[in-house]
Amino acid sequence: MESPFKTDILQGKVALVTGGGSGIGFEISRQFGKHGAAVAIMGRRRQVLEAAVHVLNSQGIHAIYFEGDVRKHEDAARVVQSTVKHFGRLDILVNAAAGNFLTSPEDLSPNGFKTVLDIDSVGTYTMCFEALKYLKKGGEGKGPSAGGVILNISATLHYTATWYQIHSSAAKAAVDSITRSLALEWGTDYEIRVNGIAPGPIQNTLGVEKLSTEETRRNILKDIPIFRWGEKWDIAMAALYLASDAGKFVNGATIVVDGGIWLCRPRG
Ligand code: HXC
Repeated sequence: MESPFKTDILQGKVALVTGGGSGIGFEISRQFGKHGAAVAIMGRRRQVLEAAVHVLNSQGIHAIYFEGDVRKHEDAARVVQSTVKHFGRLDILVNAAAGNFLTSPEDLSPNGFKTVLDIDSVGTYTMCFEALKYLKKGGEGKGPSAGGVILNISATLHYTATWYQIHSSAAKAAVDSITRSLALEWGTDYEIRVNGIAPGPIQNTLGVEKLSTEETRRNILKDIPIFRWGEKWDIAMAALYLASDAGKFVNGATIVVDGGIWLCRPRG
């Protein structure tokens, strides 16, 4: 689908996207690139990253990859520094890396719980921490704000409670809290805007594949008010809005992009 945004809204910007090799992270990288940004993607799997960069380059996007695990502080530091070394600046950090699986709390060891928090919550914080010194200057002279932008990919799991998702719900609740705290402190001190996106069920993603069965995928359509699956494109358009000057007065918000599904209750 065509983007409703002008193709130069991120011209001259440099974005780093964790989990940018596949799924939602990849589509955000692709759309950022198509709207003028140079993009670095970070992930754990070299083959996936290589293939992703190949596709991005073939679409005329200036993209590079760096292998790394957001759970390792040294990887986060190295990838942020390498991005700045390669592109000369950093304007936008997207934290899209996540880990998940379906499990009841009875079957989830404390280490399994910790693993997901380490990736989603601590990983997000670590990337933000390492990116700060560059984001302070990101955006300088390029628009109405002095600092760069952070986007944290969240979820709606924790707005109520979600079966078999105790780890991810806790992790994403922490991510939303990090979004608000950094929006307050780094927004005040450096004019860095920090926002989140909470996607609903997005078709053709590992998340939906891993976290649902054929039957739940069929049934979910009954519960979506606008009666269709979300597309990765929908999330990428929200990301473009938040990362560009269109979102210049949005700070500390996590925008739900789910067709209204989290509001649903059976008709009474
Ligand atoms: C119970 C499990 C488990 C499972 C792992 N563990 N899988 N417990 N059920 N299915 C436990 C292990 O037993 C271990 O604890 C601990 O978690 C660490 O497991 P490892 O396999 O060593 O970890 P690692 O290899 O680092 O793998 C990380 C992972 C894995 C998260 C567990 O699934 C992964 O890397 N996935 C790829 C990324 C991914 O899942 N992306 C989807 C994101 S979708 P013990 O105690 O045995 O040592 C998404 C959508 C959210 O985030 C929103 C949805 C609406």
